[in-house]
Amino acid sequence: MDSDLTAPTTMGQADPIDTLPPTFRWGVATSSYQIEGAVAEDGRTPSIWDTFCRVPGAVANGDHGDVACDHYHRMPQDVALIADLGLDTYRFSVAWPRVQPGGRGPVNPAGLAFYDRLVDELLGRGVDPWVTLYHWDLPQELEDAGGWPVRDTAYRFADYAELVFDALGDRVKTWTTLNEPWCSAMLGYAYGAHAPGRRNLGDGIAAAHHLLLGHGLAVQRLRAAASGPVDLGITVNLATADPATDSPADRDAARAADGLGNRLYLDPLIHGRYPEDVVADLAREGVRIPVEDGDLAVISTPFDVLGVNFYFGQVFSGVDERGRDRDDDGRPVQRVVRRELPRTAMDWEIVPESFTELLVRLSQDYPGVPMVITENGAAFDDRPDADGFVADDDRVAYLAEHLRAVARARLAGADVRGYFAWSLLDNFEWAYGYDKRFGIVRVDYDTQRRTPKRSALWYRDTVRRVRRER
Ligand code: FCB
Repeated sequence: MDSDLTAPTTMGQADPIDTLPPTFRWGVATSSYQIEGAVAEDGRTPSIWDTFCRVPGAVANGDHGDVACDHYHRMPQDVALIADLGLDTYRFSVAWPRVQPGGRGPVNPAGLAFYDRLVDELLGRGVDPWVTLYHWDLPQELEDAGGWPVRDTAYRFADYAELVFDALGDRVKTWTTLNEPWCSAMLGYAYGAHAPGRRNLGDGIAAAHHLLLGHGLAVQRLRAAASGPVDLGITVNLATADPATDSPADRDAARAADGLGNRLYLDPLIHGRYPEDVVADLAREGVRIPVEDGDLAVISTPFDVLGVNFYFGQVFSGVDERGRDRDDDGRPVQRVVRRELPRTAMDWEIVPESFTELLVRLSQDYPGVPMVITENGAAFDDRPDADGFVADDDRVAYLAEHLRAVARARLAGADVRGYFAWSLLDNFEWAYGYDKRFGIVRVDYDTQRRTPKRSALWYRDTVRRVRRER
């Protein structure tokens, strides 16, 4: 554990990472369903992911989160890993069906007790807990009642948020309402790739609106319930969408992709309005956002920190391979153009310079909102040695380049205050199952043995260096 790894920069130049301030926040992130296992213990009821994993063909290899990293039973050991890496913050999520089985009614003390112990364990090791209230594990009963496309789910979420806050708010000072509402809404309800696996654009858009409404309601409830200062926020996944050329068709394809992926969330959250161009795009598809009076005021309730998750960027063309700008149904073409760039095991393009551009743009288009990178990281085809150690130089390079991108964005004026690597552990990567490994710590799923990878040691040493600890 004593290697001193410094990822290479251009010879002779100072590493931009060293311009990050000593006060910068450093962490790792995980989520409940991806690591906990123990899906039927202490009163937990099924979530949409438990159900989805049982749909033949939905998840690679028929994988599921029944055991995952067995974190539910190994929590103190995992907290020790975080502390030993010298990180100051741990971002984890609370499983709704654990603390409020079925998604309504009273709290389940046995389920809540797990998070109580986790928070105490973290604080005892000098690590700040950062709670995400919803990282995709909707109680199945709420899905049976209509799920996120139904307005009532937003109110159920606000009730649940308040229950968790009542229990942990005395010790947890940073709260994220939702993780990546685009994924919940679009992957879950419009594209069918994630739980609950529906494929209907109208459902996806209704889900997006009700997720945002749930966020706003929860921020209001938590703010009212707080007796002292708390930082409240939301985490969005943002991918850059650049036009392949300057042609009007390409520019429009990129505009539409940026609109549906990024601005549909950021604009209502921060400016209190849905972007007109996206509303028009949706209207052409016969889809209307189910906004009711007062919703946008709720959604744009001021919050304290915008969590940004960044993994990749894309380039779009408005012309298909046959040169047409309309598809067979007369819709404008929106084609992702593959660039000749290095990629991760997810087939995601590695574009750290887009990360800098994105953060600078956010600081200009949505000024005054402090940002924290709540997820960034990469899956690669790790090859452990006989001791289970992974010399993941590709992941070290990815993390280093993206941290440099953050540092450059800060130098250009973006107010980014922290960075959390995704993820502490290899874990259940949703529809990809256990095939894709994002951890900086390897998990041997046969033995549940944890082995820090070279990237974990590099991260530890980088954090020390930036904090001027040696
Ligand atoms: C994000 C999710 C996270 C993980 C990473 C790779 O979209 O928030 O749970 O799956 O991608």
